[in-house]
Amino acid sequence: MDDLTLREANRRSWNAVAPAHASHRPGLGEFLRAGGLTLFPEERDLLGEVAGLALLHLLCNSGQDTLSLARLGAVAVGVDISDEAIALARRLSAESGLPARFERADVYDYLAGARGAGFARVYCGYGAICWLRDLAAFARGVAGALAPGGRFVLVEFHPASNMFDQAWRLARGYPARGERLTLGGVGDYVGAAGGGLSPGGFAEGAGDFVNPHPCHLFRWGLGEVVSALAAAGLTLTALREYPYVNGERPFARMRAGEGRRWHPPDDVPPIPLMYGLAAELQGGR
Ligand SMILES: C[S@@+](CC[C@H](N)C(=O)[O-])C[C@H]1O[C@@H](n2cnc3c(N)ncnc32)[C@H](O)[C@@H]1O
Repeated sequence: MDDLTLREANRRSWNAVAPAHASHRPGLGEFLRAGGLTLFPEERDLLGEVAGLALLHLLCNSGQDTLSLARLGAVAVGVDISDEAIALARRLSAESGLPARFERADVYDYLAGARGAGFARVYCGYGAICWLRDLAAFARGVAGALAPGGRFVLVEFHPASNMFDQAWRLARGYPARGERLTLGGVGDYVGAAGGGLSPGGFAEGAGDFVNPHPCHLFRWGLGEVVSALAAAGLTLTALREYPYVNGERPFARMRAGEGRRWHPPDDVPPIPLMYGLAAELQGGR
């Protein structure tokens, strides 16, 4: 399947699920307007102070995190391939009164046009890397969009966690080489998180959503992500692994912790479930 066919299939799948996700978050605009933030401490810490900085949020989905970064003072641009997600993001911006520019675009197309854009921060995460067919091109695009001294921040589900099925059984090998994984469609993980992804209040919404459009993901290992960034000229300044998941509840029997964080059950030995990294383009100040 060629690249355009894959990305259009993914666009259809995300367009179908975006309203279902939004149906669980009726109060999100009001939450953001009142000063609420959807961000977690991990990305805030890696991003550092963002007030006044030009920030690019890639694969931003319906923009809640982009707008939270705008609330913290960033001059934010959000990019996503899904028409429905970007329409929701623009509506959320109007409802919350928080300004951000949202562009509907394929990430590779956008980055090709963003060379020399001089962003101080480029951020993405929580299910971004798995949509990238060409990690090397992505990393080069990120480096090209950064200002000298600028920082790329990524907070992601750990590839080690992808080796387990929902019942914590070892089910797949460690992700490598962007191996393609075709699924029936993007699911209603916002509904399944039962409030973990809805800090402004959770509604039952589209309880039995079934996505009619298949999607195609790409399985990359952590070493491949870091190596792609290094090959693009970025210097790694932090790489952290976390034994819990923020927001989403990908496994059965997870224990709810503080701050919308999910922990494995007591009988599962700790494994890294998320990682975060920061990498900088040398040459600033
Ligand atoms: C799991 S979401 C990312 C979560 C997001 N960080 C958030 O705050 O909700 C993945 C997003 O990637 C987008 N996406 C998938 N393939 C893409 C591509 N080729 N270019 C741009 N966006 C893409 C989807 O439309 C979807 O909104």
